[in-house]
Amino acid sequence: MADVIKSKGWNWQIVSDDCTSVWKNPASETFYLVSRWKNQHKQSFLDMGCGLGRHSVLFAKNGFNVSAFDISENAIERTCDWMQEQGLNINAKVGDMLNIPFEDNSMDCVLCINVISHTDTNGVYKIADELKRVLKQNGECYLTLASKDTWGYKQNWPVVDENTKLRDEEGPEYMVPHFYADYDLISKIFKDFEILDIKHIGTFYTHNNQSYESYHWHLLIRKSNV
Ligand SMILES: C[S@@+](CC[C@H](N)C(=O)[O-])C[C@H]1O[C@@H](n2cnc3c(N)ncnc32)[C@H](O)[C@@H]1O
Repeated sequence: MADVIKSKGWNWQIVSDDCTSVWKNPASETFYLVSRWKNQHKQSFLDMGCGLGRHSVLFAKNGFNVSAFDISENAIERTCDWMQEQGLNINAKVGDMLNIPFEDNSMDCVLCINVISHTDTNGVYKIADELKRVLKQNGECYLTLASKDTWGYKQNWPVVDENTKLRDEEGPEYMVPHFYADYDLISKIFKDFEILDIKHIGTFYTHNNQSYESYHWHLLIRKSNV
């Protein structure tokens, strides 16, 4: 395998369990996915890089058979505690998305929200192979990738490769690798999948009186004989 930067999980210890926080409330697009994948009678669901478990809880409450993993031990402990509090079952493990800790052809659907970008270019290619390995035939995956139009790509942060920087800012993502993509790169990385939908979504916010423009690619892909 080509060299890949060592993964570094989030420091979740400095993030509270405040139930109004973004990390405790599902991303809006996941409500669509619950509906879509239920209508397709999908059952096995993998929450890759699950964080505090906001999507694991949502999919388990909607009857999916939920598996999850994250490289952060603290994230897995807190996901398991939250699932238990809710009386929900989960198969959760500490693991690395570069070697997804689940079997070949075992998942009907996989969710990767703001996770895949936490590696470098070789890492993203490896993850695409891993997704193909764990998905069943006609299985679907929804994923987000940071875009080269986002503010972070323009920062003078340490460079890992032509698409990747280390986030040089205090907070839970300090020195975590960030890979940034454009459309052509995405087409190459996911060439073995059917791309069902692709969007480029902007988020605009202010923090400490500074304005930020953040852009992400959102992809819905299917493993099929394309
Ligand atoms: C931005 S958070 C998103 C968490 C969750 N997907 C959500 O939407 O709430 C990114 C997560 O990816 C995890 N992560 C980073 N590198 C990873 C890796 N190599 N393998 C698995 N998880 C990783 C981090 O620990 C963190 O929990």
